[in-house]
Amino acid sequence: MQQEKLRELLADMSLPEKIGQLVQLSGEFFQSKDISYGPIQKLGISQEAIDLTGSVLNVTGAHATKQLQEQQMAKQPHHIPVLFMADVIYGFKTIFPIPLGLGATWDPELVQQAFRIAGNEAAASGNQVSFAPMVDVTHDPRWGRTLESPGEDALLNARMATAMVTGFQTDLAEKAGQVSCVKHFAAYGGVEAGREYNSADMSLSNLYQNYLPPYKAAVDAGCEMVMTSLSTLNGVPGTADKWLLQDVLKKQWGFDGVLISDYASVYELVKHGYATDDRDSALKALDAGLDIDMKSPVYANELQGLVEDGSLSEDRIDQACWRVLQLKNKLGLFEDPYFGTSEEAEKKINLTADKRALARKVAAESLVLLQNKNDILPLTGAEKVALIGPYADEKSLIGMWAVHGDPADCVTIKEALQEELGERLTYTRGTDISRDKEKLRGLGFLTDEMITQVVSDDETEQKHHDEALKNAQAADVVIYAVGEHSFEAGEAGSKTNLHLPDNQVNLLNDLHGLGKKIVLVNISGRPLVLSNVTDKTDAIIQAWFPGTEGGLAIADVILGKVSPSGRLSMTFPYTEGQEPLYYAHLSTGRPQDGSQHVGRFVSRYIDAPTAPLYAFGYGLSYAQVEYGKIKLEKDKLSANDTLKVSIELTNASNWQQKETVQVYFHDDAASIVQPVKRLIDFKKVVLAPHSKQIVTFAIPAMYFSFYDNQGESILEPGTFHLFVGANSQDVASATFEILDK
Ligand code: NOJ
Repeated sequence: MQQEKLRELLADMSLPEKIGQLVQLSGEFFQSKDISYGPIQKLGISQEAIDLTGSVLNVTGAHATKQLQEQQMAKQPHHIPVLFMADVIYGFKTIFPIPLGLGATWDPELVQQAFRIAGNEAAASGNQVSFAPMVDVTHDPRWGRTLESPGEDALLNARMATAMVTGFQTDLAEKAGQVSCVKHFAAYGGVEAGREYNSADMSLSNLYQNYLPPYKAAVDAGCEMVMTSLSTLNGVPGTADKWLLQDVLKKQWGFDGVLISDYASVYELVKHGYATDDRDSALKALDAGLDIDMKSPVYANELQGLVEDGSLSEDRIDQACWRVLQLKNKLGLFEDPYFGTSEEAEKKINLTADKRALARKVAAESLVLLQNKNDILPLTGAEKVALIGPYADEKSLIGMWAVHGDPADCVTIKEALQEELGERLTYTRGTDISRDKEKLRGLGFLTDEMITQVVSDDETEQKHHDEALKNAQAADVVIYAVGEHSFEAGEAGSKTNLHLPDNQVNLLNDLHGLGKKIVLVNISGRPLVLSNVTDKTDAIIQAWFPGTEGGLAIADVILGKVSPSGRLSMTFPYTEGQEPLYYAHLSTGRPQDGSQHVGRFVSRYIDAPTAPLYAFGYGLSYAQVEYGKIKLEKDKLSANDTLKVSIELTNASNWQQKETVQVYFHDDAASIVQPVKRLIDFKKVVLAPHSKQIVTFAIPAMYFSFYDNQGESILEPGTFHLFVGANSQDVASATFEILDK
């Protein structure tokens, strides 16, 4: 529709119609199947408000969305199409690894391909907007939503944000992609103590440096929507934070798309203690710049009264409504309200062989080999293998936030290995995923009947245990697939105990007692504490929730079809008490290593190491790649110069290896002290067997700047350390200087 016509439409709409465009409801309001997660409440809104709703949450499937579109358009006086939005977080039907696993690929190009596919599948099912990417930087694996984030680093998350937004939106013009809605603005990942929905409090320098860059990268990549956070930042709820939404997002970054609240977060302004009642909430959120109220009665019930009593000018409603109409128009919904919705396409494009192949490749690249004593992996394929563990033949490999995917589509580890090993493979569950009924009940989704299926009776458990020991005894190698229940990680999955459950560790101890070689495969949505299993195992593969083709990818790594190349995008702690633990911390005046002091009075714990178990960027491969010396083209730079860096890599093995070369730096002295290391660039390169390769980086001097507490980026002259290596700890270093002029 031409802009002029769109303006005429807006001018012709009644106030309730315009407000309707600012309301988003989920499927149950329209008698449609709904798969959204969130607190359930009766909203107490009128049928008229429901009929005028401008967008719908998490109703999917070409048939359902078409029907609902038809129904809603007929009810609206101007027949304005609704926008269908959904949580397509890491795949729609073809499910890729959880974002923390995607972060571990360190391969934005690959991730972009995955998100393009997610957009294609979701568009065919009638969804035009995805509530992704979630790029909240997080330092604390107690937070369940660690699963949804690419990881702990601003630069890595920013590169992934660009890739994900671009992937989703690639095929928009062909009506085969999705508009991307980045979330959760802002700094949700900084919530205190990793407790869900908690508050974040931080300096502006920290916010600008470490938390905002991924959202900005998404905006720069052209994402059309932004979702606010459920949490507060420095005392102000994200949903009504005028400074964040107006000054940072709109003025500083030039965002002119649509702003949506998170689920009921406008409604929650009263609970936060930020608004006195619903009317006050509506006023504060709209005034801050929030366009759409997701799943709350507040805009629907209060905006009209606010206009009528003069507290809010209708013009403000018009502006918000205009942004929503613009988005609908950009998508061409006024001409084709069904966008790319097609039952035929759904059948044709979902989960096709090429999509599965990509999912397998991405999953294989997300796996991180944490330990490989005596090069026990890869297996030759000739060994007798005892596959044991609650995840050994488990279809639930997609994790909690793949709400549109179906675990039934997954290939289990057993299915994948059986294809290769045939009779050399034995299988038993060995033990349950959890024996703790109370904990399982507390997850909120499992009925007593479901819990009975998860937790075996004592006799069955003993039978599984005995069978496991018998199978292990007869085998050359044990593969033990363990981890956390998929409902333990994801929204509202915060926990304080990051160890594997006791029953899983007890069986491991018994298996270890047999003196067999043990490969542990850990399925989890977050870094777990693995320090109590490293000495009982020979190899450890961190497998995340690896997605539809996860079983095959795990088999590919175990059997050496690919050499593992995943690198941790989040630090693995030695113990929970170290959290939040992250590589880019400050030095302190008394660092444990290199302090002027000796003995007790240094920054450390008296009962645990200061160092992590596995550092950011860490991961093993089958090839041994040697890093040479760093070469700097010049080591004195002015602010307009570019630092040109090269390093020679040697692959002396028979393996083709994908290697992620990581570049960090430290600003030796700054007016706001800077982290011991900060990632500044990385490249994933392919090394042929027995080859050398020179990898180069060109880093503008301006990138070595930092943010002050006014949010200004400043570059201070002085000396810097540059580090290049395979992870944040094993690095070669060089120094350079940024000159005054
Ligand atoms: C609440 C979650 O915080 C958010 O990430 C999600 O997009 C919405 N629910 C909609 O399902």
